[in-house]
Amino acid sequence: MHVLIVGANGQLGQAVQAVCDMQHSVTVWGRQEADIADPAIVDQITDARPDLVINCAAWTNVDGAEKEPDAAFAVNALGAFYLATACARIGAVMVHVSTNEVFEGTPGKFYYEYDQPRPASVYARSKLAGEVAASHVLDQLFVVRVAWLFGPGGNNFPSKIVAAADRHGALRVVDEEMGNPTYAPDVAAAIFRLVETGRYGIYHLVNQGHTSRFGLAQAVLQATRREHIALTPIRLAEWPRPAPPPPHAVLVNQAAAALGIALRPWQEAVQAYVEATYAETSDQAATLEK
Ligand SMILES: NC(=O)c1ccc[n+]([C@@H]2O[C@H](COP(=O)([O-])OP(=O)(O)OC[C@H]3O[C@@H](n4cnc5c(N)ncnc54)[C@H](OP(=O)(O)O)[C@@H]3O)[C@@H](O)[C@H]2O)c1
Repeated sequence: MHVLIVGANGQLGQAVQAVCDMQHSVTVWGRQEADIADPAIVDQITDARPDLVINCAAWTNVDGAEKEPDAAFAVNALGAFYLATACARIGAVMVHVSTNEVFEGTPGKFYYEYDQPRPASVYARSKLAGEVAASHVLDQLFVVRVAWLFGPGGNNFPSKIVAAADRHGALRVVDEEMGNPTYAPDVAAAIFRLVETGRYGIYHLVNQGHTSRFGLAQAVLQATRREHIALTPIRLAEWPRPAPPPPHAVLVNQAAAALGIALRPWQEAVQAYVEATYAETSDQAATLEK
């Protein structure tokens, strides 16, 4: 199978590359090689003739999208449409990655694959538009929604927590926003298993369980041996953002689990991430335990 990964330099793109094994021939395009917001991408993909396109490219600056909605929609909505158009033309399968933020995130509610999205922010609306646009032109489509993604080398919430802890020595973190911390390498492996099933549709690929931003920060500080950092829970209103996040956009993986595809608990994923990213901290911890 010829696999094309677009957005290959992002944190999920790198994780997908890492699990794409020798059985596949792989073409890897970062933004330098292919701008998915450019309609020329349709011919570019048609010429490359992949069997499978995995779209890891996205405008992911959630707050920035509020100021530049056209740019966000160009990548997240039109980009997805162009990729799906190319796939339909050459009979390729596409995996399109989307977000938990397509849901409004009503406190106490858990979101299944068939629940009605109701996105609030510009970013979230652009991501939903991408899902819809791709599904209008392509049947052989997997829409994979993820949440709170982190992976080695990425600029993500856990890496920001560690950096902020080292810079400030004390942290205030929102405890009212809930989600599923999700490890990019786990999603990458699950994507290939999903593709093998040939069961197209919408899937929620998140690590098992959920927590608050505060809970995730606490787990990261513990796993990196920074328990001494003072951590104070705060309300959402105390951390105003241009794009307020959905308070409880917690995803349930029902569809993939029914096919035997489930990701490990998020706490184990955080541990794996810390071991892969902060080897120094782990080495220090091992020395301390001796
Ligand atoms: N990160 C999260 O917490 C999270 C949560 C839910 C869903 N998601 C979704 O998961 C997917 C992967 O996210 P991620 O965290 O891996 O994002 P990421 O690290 O920000 O990677 C996104 C990649 O897309 C590239 N890109 C941006 N515009 C492009 C364009 N016009 N053409 C081609 N490439 C372009 C970026 O290149 P540059 O670096 O050059 O800009 C970057 O390498 C996205 O669909 C995102 O919406 C992420």
